[in-house]
Amino acid sequence: MHTHRQEPSLLHLDSSASGGGDSITRQLTARYADIWRCLHGPEGYRYRDLAADPIPLVSSAFVSLGIRVERHGTVPLHKIAELAADPAERQEWALTLPLITEMRAARTVLIGVPMYNFSVPAALKAWIDRVTFPGAFIDEGTGDRLLRETNVVIVAARGGCYAPGTPREDFDFQTPYLRAYFTDLGVAPENLHFVHAEMTRAGDVPALAQFKPLAADSLATARTAVTELARLPAASGTAASGTAARTH
Ligand SMILES: Cc1cc2nc3c(=O)[nH]c(=O)nc-3n(C[C@H](O)[C@H](O)[C@H](O)COP(=O)(O)O)c2cc1C
Repeated sequence: MHTHRQEPSLLHLDSSASGGGDSITRQLTARYADIWRCLHGPEGYRYRDLAADPIPLVSSAFVSLGIRVERHGTVPLHKIAELAADPAERQEWALTLPLITEMRAARTVLIGVPMYNFSVPAALKAWIDRVTFPGAFIDEGTGDRLLRETNVVIVAARGGCYAPGTPREDFDFQTPYLRAYFTDLGVAPENLHFVHAEMTRAGDVPALAQFKPLAADSLATARTAVTELARLPAASGTAASGTAARTH
């Protein structure tokens, strides 16, 4: 099912509502993807713009199919369509299977994630809710977790600052949420990398003007971290994961 995983492969997702020129996360993920394609070529590269091309929200047919599958235990992906009870469930599965397949095939998953109202954009949450179908990332034969060796690189931007020791530290439901989600999904903690660009609105919001130097430092650190992560041997799938730079 995941025969391509030994080859370098990158699934790149963006979720900012802003276009390329205005979006910090899109600029940073594009830098990673450019370096990755220079090193590994274009064949293993897949891109989804979750904001421009939204994933439909899960429906009652999605939930009923998922519950039926859970009652059967672990069901191979190729047998799930047989469990669909009606056209609505078949349609839900047709929307879901390609997302699961490309996630399973990816050696590295790169996700641009703005902070929206202290959490992740709804466009990314719609992808998460759909791709997390029961048993989707568990080997049906062995029970092994299929994403253990997948690298996940989260490029997070936020208008304010949420670093440890700052007044809004406890308001960050973006990074802790994604850490909990991907580790629970089976991604090994050492393969989960976060890059943060903070205070990204300092240039626009007069009350934040004093933080412009902090914003510039944070962006420069994020650029360096993205560049280093894209060059890691682990990003190609040819070596074990190394220690990557983190911005905090
Ligand atoms: C709908 C919306 C909600 C936002 N909510 C927050 C927030 O809760 N905290 C924060 O620090 N910044 C917030 N911001 C600012 C963004 O996190 C910031 O502009 C970030 O750079 C967006 O990522 P992007 O540059 O890739 O679009 C919000 C921006 C938008 C558009």
